[in-house]
Amino acid sequence: MKNNKRKLWDGRFTESTAKIVEKFTCSLHFDKRLYKYDIEGSIAHCMMLEKCKIIKREEAGKIINGLNSILKEIENGVFPFREELEDIHMNVERRLIEKIGKVGGKLHTARSRNDQVALDVRLFLKDEIKETGLALKELQKAIIKIAENNLQCIMPGYTHMQQAQPVLFSHHLMAYYEMLERDYERLVLCYWRTDVLPLGAGALAGTSFPIDREYVAKLLKFSRVTKNSLDTVSDRDFVIDYLAFASILMMHLSRLCEELILWSSSEFNFIEISDSFCTGSSMMPQKKNPDVPELIRGKTGRVYGNLITMLTILKSLPLSYNRDLQEDKEALFDSVDTVKNSLVILKDVISNLKVKEEKMQEKACAGFLTATDISDYLVKKGLAFRESHEVVGKLVRYCIDKRKTLNKLDLSEFKKFHKSFDKDVISCIAVEHSVDSKISYGGTARGNVVRMIREAKKELRGSFFKFS
Ligand code: ARG
Repeated sequence: MKNNKRKLWDGRFTESTAKIVEKFTCSLHFDKRLYKYDIEGSIAHCMMLEKCKIIKREEAGKIINGLNSILKEIENGVFPFREELEDIHMNVERRLIEKIGKVGGKLHTARSRNDQVALDVRLFLKDEIKETGLALKELQKAIIKIAENNLQCIMPGYTHMQQAQPVLFSHHLMAYYEMLERDYERLVLCYWRTDVLPLGAGALAGTSFPIDREYVAKLLKFSRVTKNSLDTVSDRDFVIDYLAFASILMMHLSRLCEELILWSSSEFNFIEISDSFCTGSSMMPQKKNPDVPELIRGKTGRVYGNLITMLTILKSLPLSYNRDLQEDKEALFDSVDTVKNSLVILKDVISNLKVKEEKMQEKACAGFLTATDISDYLVKKGLAFRESHEVVGKLVRYCIDKRKTLNKLDLSEFKKFHKSFDKDVISCIAVEHSVDSKISYGGTARGNVVRMIREAKKELRGSFFKFS
């Protein structure tokens, strides 16, 4: 039998909750992170109750003062958190009643924890999206900066991980700028979907009190309100949107990290990651390991995992609120933190990279990367592309047999393969010429890349979407 009243909801209960159940159902250890939003939402709700004459002005005053003092208690680390009260919402409400008495019990009029928790998560995520967006823009800035500082640097471009054609290192880096730009677009959409007020849905059916949801939306800076109470308390699509955004972003970061790891190996030797972002080996004295990019690559796994967690929680979940939904928060918090930390640290890694221009150039000149340029040269002399492809294929075979690179061939050797070769072929073998000839829109010609960088910088100076 229960001896003293411990819960805000135990009116119909005759026995107290088993300890093991309290522990199992408790979400306080993670949802206390939402305290600021919970209090902010409660204050707005209370102002609305007063405005709609559902509670009296003095009652609202007492409640708001009480909530503000609870906010201070939490921020000063003196709030008496109680696990047996399940979650942050119950902790705040119980404390309010303790502080201001019975009137505190009026706060929850026309509200349920179901619409309350949906509100808290949306408020939290709106803030986090803004921070994610800023960190993403900072990483883009760092990428642009190193692209701009290394415009003369030519590297081998790859397909199938085999050397393909020479490209500007800056062009390669700006490819990541583009990926991040798409991620930003996804984030903007994510914000738009999150920016809807759920409060007022009640437990599932709405409320009979004459509430004003638009007013609450205005107070809390939501651009609109949800339209169906059942959907409102059971919807976590906006969480999935963020987790999907986060997964794609991490996929991009892990691709960049993979390249940093490869490029910093002695096999490639294209870049050096600054000492302050590497670690050593406890056994091998010569080692300098790229742990930061490796960890970002690894953390991509947990971010994908969180997306699958959330999709699985929602799969087949009947309407409307079910306790399963409590599992949304850890997955979301973990991805939010992982994404932000990864963006911030990767920006530092990129800003401190040492670019080994001569090594890249050396590799770009050593293979047969301008074979396509020679083939295009013959096309411009009147050959069909398929024919020129065949001629240059044979030329490459000849070089392999003779252990020569293309730039070591003289004109007479070229002429053996086709009479249309002339002395101007020599200049078209140079990697600089190859790069600068790719003037098609989006190609790697220096002029193009300079223009793209200029446009990207303009975008970053202010024309991109700002979260309000
Ligand atoms: N801690 C809960 C959650 O995170 C709050 C809502 C609980 N609602 C309920 N009816 N038990 O989802």
